[in-house]
Amino acid sequence: MSLYQFLYIAAAAGFILALKWMSSPATARRGVLAGQLGMLMAVVGTLIRAEIFNYEWIAVGIVLGAVIGAPIAIFMPMTGVPQRTAISQACGSLASALIGTAEYYKLQPHGFIMSALIVETLLGFVTVTASIMAWGKLQEVLPGRPVTYKGQFFINMAVLASAIALGIFLVFNPERTDLYPIFVVLALTFGVFLILPIGGADMPTVIALLNSYAGLSACAMGFALDNKLLIIAGALDGSSGFILSVIMCKAMNRSFANVLFGGFGQVQASVAGTEARPVRSATPEEAAQILETASTVVIVPGYGMAVAQAQHKIRELADALGKKGVDVKFAIHPVAGRMPGHMNVLLAEADVSYDKLIEMEDINPEMAMTDVVLIVGANDIVNPAAETDPSSPIAGMPILTAYKARTVMVIKRSMGVGFAGIDNDLYYRPNTLMLFGDAKAFTTSLVKELTAT
Ligand code: TAP
Repeated sequence: MSLYQFLYIAAAAGFILALKWMSSPATARRGVLAGQLGMLMAVVGTLIRAEIFNYEWIAVGIVLGAVIGAPIAIFMPMTGVPQRTAISQACGSLASALIGTAEYYKLQPHGFIMSALIVETLLGFVTVTASIMAWGKLQEVLPGRPVTYKGQFFINMAVLASAIALGIFLVFNPERTDLYPIFVVLALTFGVFLILPIGGADMPTVIALLNSYAGLSACAMGFALDNKLLIIAGALDGSSGFILSVIMCKAMNRSFANVLFGGFGQVQASVAGTEARPVRSATPEEAAQILETASTVVIVPGYGMAVAQAQHKIRELADALGKKGVDVKFAIHPVAGRMPGHMNVLLAEADVSYDKLIEMEDINPEMAMTDVVLIVGANDIVNPAAETDPSSPIAGMPILTAYKARTVMVIKRSMGVGFAGIDNDLYYRPNTLMLFGDAKAFTTSLVKELTAT
């Protein structure tokens, strides 16, 4: 076995271990390291291959990549990770599509290799424009609302069908290089059309799906170039992206079709918040008193905690309560925030110990015995309408049953809606107290009150 083959096998092992270890917060850091080492070995293994004659342009690529990538990695806030992922995916799939294009023009192969090239370039070019569109919507460079028009579904399907039909024609007639640019334009156009009808808020799920397309494109490239490491890495990427999007859809109780064609959270937003019902609110002093007299407190973090970057203050609050003998736990909903593991990452960053983070299925049975549930910038994931109102957009979505606790306190700035754009009956219940304010500012006041007494 040559050295590069040995490095490839080690790299593949690194990627597999990375996925395994990243599935638990306790081993996630090790998983990231295994993935990075795997990638390093893959790059080194490729650089020492006999097919590479000179390194000039490769060096230029490495320097350019580092100059662009390092500042993005350092300065991008956690809340910007979905759009950062979209832009990396656009670059990765562009590379895959361009390599496929170069191979096509160089070899115009027949049979299996040509089929693999067509799959690679079709998925690659679709993912490029779709990822750029997803980035634009998340970054609010493009309007986040779904863009819909009559006959959209049929137009989209017609563009996709034309691209596939032309691709099949090229498999049997690879010498027709004149038709290839049309195939590319159709694939790029379908990428744009695919994202137009999807609302900005659904983009994290779509990005997981696009991640899967980019992985499959790389896998097809592996077949076209006869590179086994690419096949393994692409298959892992493709399947993990797909599984992740399935998990996200399940946790939101939605189907792929609903994500891709549903325009979720947009319609309701305009009608929500119109109802003026009385709510009970409390000051930081009152809330602190209730918290310190409780024996069990469950904190439910949500998107608002991420926006306010309140995780460090929340940890201080949990520590202050712990010192007073209160048993504090964190309830983690699978789709709290805007990306998978969003709350776990933020709370880990604030040094909250993993054993305090309790998954939804495990914490829900304890809710009825809990003295206080403190909800920090969460809305949909605690909305009882999911269980009681079959016409609600979130009907059937599993929720944290905070409403069962003796007292519920909710830190948020207003009566404003969350991602799904709907009102939350929990806020009006007799055992609920609204703590109006920014999550970080309000928690800071709570910590002050608790540490002063
Ligand atoms: P949301 O339902 O989006 O509610 C967040 C709440 O935070 C808002 O009602 C907002 O109310 C409040 N807020 C915003 N900024 C705040 C601040 N600075 N201080 C205090 N509060 C603030 O969040 P959630 O309960 O975490 O639910 C997540 C939603 O996102 C679900 O519907 C889920 O399906 C969806 N989603 C999740 C993912 C993943 S993978 N996590 C992906 C796509 C979609 P105010 O404006 O009144 O403050």
